[in-house]
Amino acid sequence: MRTIGLMSGTSLDGVDGVLVDFSQDALSVLAFASCDIPTPLRAELLALNSSADNELHRAALAANALVGLYGTVVQQLLKASGVAPTSIAAIGVHGQTVRHRPGEFDGVGYTLQLNNPALLAERSGIAVVADFRSRDVAAGGQGAPLVPAFHSLFLNSERQRMAVLNIGGISNITLLAPQQAQQSVQGFDCGPGNALLDYWCQKHTGAAFDNGGEWGRMGTVNADLLAHWLKDPFFHQQAPKSTGRDLFNPSWLEASLAHFPTVSPADVQASLTALTAATCADALNQALPGCHRLLVCGGGAFNSLLMEMLQSRLAGCTVASTQSAGLPPLQVEACAFAWLAVQALQGRAGNLPAVTGARGPRVLGAIYPA
Ligand SMILES: Nc1ncnc2c1ncn2[C@@H]1O[C@H](COP(=O)(O)OP(=O)(O)OP(=O)(O)O)[C@@H](O)[C@H]1O
Ligand SMILES: [Mg+2]
Repeated sequence: MRTIGLMSGTSLDGVDGVLVDFSQDALSVLAFASCDIPTPLRAELLALNSSADNELHRAALAANALVGLYGTVVQQLLKASGVAPTSIAAIGVHGQTVRHRPGEFDGVGYTLQLNNPALLAERSGIAVVADFRSRDVAAGGQGAPLVPAFHSLFLNSERQRMAVLNIGGISNITLLAPQQAQQSVQGFDCGPGNALLDYWCQKHTGAAFDNGGEWGRMGTVNADLLAHWLKDPFFHQQAPKSTGRDLFNPSWLEASLAHFPTVSPADVQASLTALTAATCADALNQALPGCHRLLVCGGGAFNSLLMEMLQSRLAGCTVASTQSAGLPPLQVEACAFAWLAVQALQGRAGNLPAVTGARGPRVLGAIYPA
């Protein structure tokens, strides 16, 4: 079944898209394309992450603008692969998270991804599946992470004791033990991935991200600052758990730095890199001791300093990019949403209740016919 997956995550860097052919339990990526989010739209999406003036109207317009980018990526995928739109079963599109508050408000929270799936279906002539997270939240779950089922099916062909770590704006981990049934796969959000790293780097160097971790490498990790951050209750919560910019945002960072006024910007960057590494490595060491292999995907896999810090905290575990398992780091999440679209079309569950905490397996997403 040929399907497109589109992912635009909390880093707000861009839209990643894949055109995938699923057959039995194998996948083959026929095309990959990506498109940067233009700076004004990025600024608007960031602003819409907190309460803002006239936000309903602005959110609707931002969603339409996003669909413009989604359409561009879809056209690039069709052109690169030579596949006709009529032979694509669906586009699975995540949308842009602007609020993630599951389990709040008397136990029924919400999660909100800006999107206009009707417009994407209208323009592309392809069926669209969207809003994957809400049904899981309605069933009492976190609505996240939704990728562990995909990780377990497509990144653990040898059925090893291993883990997959996605380092996007937020980081999330999937824990896989040998011969494990899908129902007992574990997974949860670990904390900030690149979101705070990007914010700090942009503020002090003007660059959108710390390429290769080179700026952070010039600094030194401040142990007291790191220890202060690690006290945040989120890191000590038991799974199921998920988070987002609602918690790990510039205010969170700036409030903590007020207690450490003399730490240099480069040292803060080094310490933030260590925070991502420490929270991910601690999660793995606690939840899957003796894990021999960690595959890393998401843009964080390109931050060599972060990869080295992860490796140094995981004795006996080989840390490598998912490229080593045949799937490039920026394609994994997009492939996962293509797979989730297939699940929805076939009326099969996409969530793993053991991961999200939902009351049971649920078919995720709403289908907008071609
Ligand atoms: N060469 C690089 N060096 C360092 N960091 C990089 C590099 N390339 C990408 N990144 C980081 O990866 C981020 C983008 O990662 P990605 O697209 O996986 O995140 P995302 O959009 O939040 O996705 P998701 O929510 O699906 O996990 C960038 O914002 C940047 O911080
Ligand atoms: Mg991205």
